[in-house]
Amino acid sequence: MNFSPPKGTDDIFPPASRAWRRALMIWESLAERYGYDLVIGPVFESTEIFARGVGESTEVVQKQMYTFEDKGGRSLTLRPEGTASVVRAYLGSGVQGEVKLAYSGPMFRYERPQAGRRRQFYQTGVEYLATAAPDADAEVIEIGYRFLEEVGFDEVEVALNSIGDGECRPAYLAVLRAYLNDKRGTLCDDSVRTLETNPLRVLDCKVCAPHLTDAPNAVDFLCDACRLHFDAVQVRLGNTGIPFRLEPRLVRGLDYYTRTAFEYIATGFDAAQNAVGGGGRYDGLAETLGGSAVPGVGLAMGIDRILLAAGEDGSDIVPLDLFVVVASPERRETAARFVSDLRRAGVRVDMAPQQRSVKSQFRAADRRKAAGVAIIGDEWDQGRVIVRNLATSTQTEISVEEAAEWAKSNR
Ligand code: HAM
Repeated sequence: MNFSPPKGTDDIFPPASRAWRRALMIWESLAERYGYDLVIGPVFESTEIFARGVGESTEVVQKQMYTFEDKGGRSLTLRPEGTASVVRAYLGSGVQGEVKLAYSGPMFRYERPQAGRRRQFYQTGVEYLATAAPDADAEVIEIGYRFLEEVGFDEVEVALNSIGDGECRPAYLAVLRAYLNDKRGTLCDDSVRTLETNPLRVLDCKVCAPHLTDAPNAVDFLCDACRLHFDAVQVRLGNTGIPFRLEPRLVRGLDYYTRTAFEYIATGFDAAQNAVGGGGRYDGLAETLGGSAVPGVGLAMGIDRILLAAGEDGSDIVPLDLFVVVASPERRETAARFVSDLRRAGVRVDMAPQQRSVKSQFRAADRRKAAGVAIIGDEWDQGRVIVRNLATSTQTEISVEEAAEWAKSNR
């Protein structure tokens, strides 16, 4: 039996998982502070949600989907991303008007695995639905930036672009197509195939893009409404102190984007996979899925990549407040009840799973980086317990009722 996880997947095991837990807790707190309600959807969807939503000509749909037929003959796909599912859920919910939703969970793409590029990876994201206002774009961009700040990044850049909308994009695509047709001989097979149907994809092609530095940029073709929107996003970002860099080459790998597109680049991380998050506006996605016109903007942060770029190996164990040392076997039941009560009182506390020598229990307390120990001995019969601060080795006797407060103040 081979105990390795499948290719391109990871076991997020301690100590690494400690950094994950911390990052996910930061994310939850941030999403709540910004007013995003939680949405939890299925991990698989009808294949057509992604084929239509993400776009037939994208690499994700053409090459990377985990698609299978279930026993009922339905074509299902493990979600390669969250946005199309969330928009589907919104359309199905019957909810009207603006909604702010946050989600997190594993996504699946059949990629060539490497550091920061996995077949199962974890995203946290938000979608701000049913508003076309530029303030929503700026807010979403801000959340991702604050998240990276709170996780501990100091070198991060927001790359920002606008790729226009149904009004101005056709004219831009015509010019881009003509430009690419001139270069046809230098393009890879995939790009030649998508040149007619979806020329923007060519600008996202890792092979071709570096040779297309003089290609026309969408931002130079924006209509007045898109230009105003883009300007307003930039003003709001400036006002809230989010540094950004205009990146006219940024087109993103999914087809649903309109107007704003952005990515977070971990500049201190010297690797190909330094885009630690990204997103944008997708005003046409709901209609592509067969729903009414529901504008929206959102982002997804790649947790695997963020922790890799941050160099987080999670080696710092979350310290216990208290380790309960049981002096003799007949006091184990009492101690277990004591531990249970302390946990309900909000104390991070543990004890050994079976009776061991007192010395060995003290060693366990050290290993778990406990701030203190409580020793359950003969004093218990008088409702008292000995507590010791492990940093200073000072010891005192307190009443059992005082133990929770003592543990919290001794953190
Ligand atoms: P995305 O750029 O495809 O956008 O993915 C967002 C982030 O997920 C990336 O920046 C990266 O950090 C992480 N990621 C993507 N693929 C992998 C992989 N194979 N291995 C590790 N990490 C990966 C979206 O998925 C959009 N749904 C974002 C969005 C939300 N747009 C609007 N709303």
